[in-house]
Amino acid sequence: MKNQGNTALLISISCVLIFLLYWVISIQTQAKNTKLYVEQTFSAQVNHLQHSIKRGKILFEKEPCNSCHKIRQRICFGVQLKNIRERRSKEFLVAFIRNEDSLVKIKHPEAIALKEEYKWSNGLHNRKHLSINDIEDMLNFIDFYE
Ligand code: HEC
Repeated sequence: MKNQGNTALLISISCVLIFLLYWVISIQTQAKNTKLYVEQTFSAQVNHLQHSIKRGKILFEKEPCNSCHKIRQRICFGVQLKNIRERRSKEFLVAFIRNEDSLVKIKHPEAIALKEEYKWSNGLHNRKHLSINDIEDMLNFIDFYE
């Protein structure tokens, strides 16, 4: 009888140990998978951003925004564009770059103030062919310009 009791106790302890071992291994695997997932997502985002910055640079030169704008300093009539996202909303930037006249027409206060500050010079912002993604790429290029 006593032997049977000991065997039952031994089996129960073994079961608990096996369960604990399984539990620890599964937690470690989960942590490893999560770390891998975070690393992969992060590197995909970095790749995406690098690609976007490269495209933005090409567009900025091709359009050619750089004929009037330097990013860090104001040249002749061109506004310096560094930290532009802190000054203007994305909606404003997209609308302005694609068609500044449409903003002037509705007397958008920010557009009017800009035109007055720069003496109504023709900034030639009439690039309807640029998509929102194209403009996002150029803004990323400006953001990371050193
Ligand atoms: C012919 C010169 C010229 C070209 C080319 C030009 N800009 Fe401009 N940009 C200006 C001037 C001048 C202003 C000031 C406002 C105005 O008069 O339009 C301005 C204003 C801006 C502003 C607003 C700045 C602020 O402080 O809010 C942005 C953004 C901008 N330009 C982006 C661009 C981008 C992007 C391109 C290329 C697609 C471009 N510009 C091409 C001359 C130019």
